[in-house]
Amino acid sequence: MKDDVRTYIYGAIGVFLIGVLAWVGLVYVNACGFTLSCNRGTIPVARTPIPTLIPATLPAMLPEDGMAAADADACYVAAADLMGAWVDAGASDTEVFQFTDATGRECESTFEEVKPLFVEANLWYSGSLSCVSCHSVNLTVSPAQLDVSSYEGILAGSRRAEGAATGTDILGGGNWNSSLLKEFIFEAKADVPGHTEDLSDLMIFAGTPLPVEATPTP
Ligand code: HEC
Repeated sequence: MKDDVRTYIYGAIGVFLIGVLAWVGLVYVNACGFTLSCNRGTIPVARTPIPTLIPATLPAMLPEDGMAAADADACYVAAADLMGAWVDAGASDTEVFQFTDATGRECESTFEEVKPLFVEANLWYSGSLSCVSCHSVNLTVSPAQLDVSSYEGILAGSRRAEGAATGTDILGGGNWNSSLLKEFIFEAKADVPGHTEDLSDLMIFAGTPLPVEATPTP
């Protein structure tokens, strides 16, 4: 009788211990997998974060002289002029367009290099908002019902009525000089938030120089 009770108690303790071990094992395997070199439990070392982003306020680099620019892989052009060349060449989303850069070289580029001008912040001047931060895909809040977040949005134009696929062409029908886009990049409009600065003189490196044909020696 006494032994029965003892066996029963020891049995219960044994089952309990096996249960605890199985549970701990399960939790371990669940967290670490079948390995003994698991260090997920070690306390992380706190280190002072080192900033890795380059400050966005540095002025655009100027090539030293014509020679230095001729050696660079990229062309040197006003961002607004790159946009203009793209518009004048028919504003394609895939096709290559050509332009003359500030050092007089013939260059080529694609929409891929124009798009960041619409979607990147801190680009036109230090602290500038991206165009898309205002002219977003959500036309109910976007000023002038203009969405410049995508190629399709830019082509669809501004002042799009509810549900309308297109509105006012901001690309001047392919003529940069008469386009609304040029007007809003080149003219500082004191009373329009987001357009209080003339953005026409930002210089960037973009496009690739076309190979120069060797002048035949006489
Ligand atoms: C701070 C917000 C803001 C930012 C950033 C902004 N815009 Fe605008 N944009 C406006 C407002 C407001 C208007 C005028 C809307 C109106 O007249 O009803 C406007 C008007 C325009 C128009 C004229 C559309 C029309 O039909 O009259 C164009 C084109 C335009 N913006 C392009 C751009 C481009 C390109 C950028 C980036 C370089 C940009 N915007 C950045 C707020 C902004």
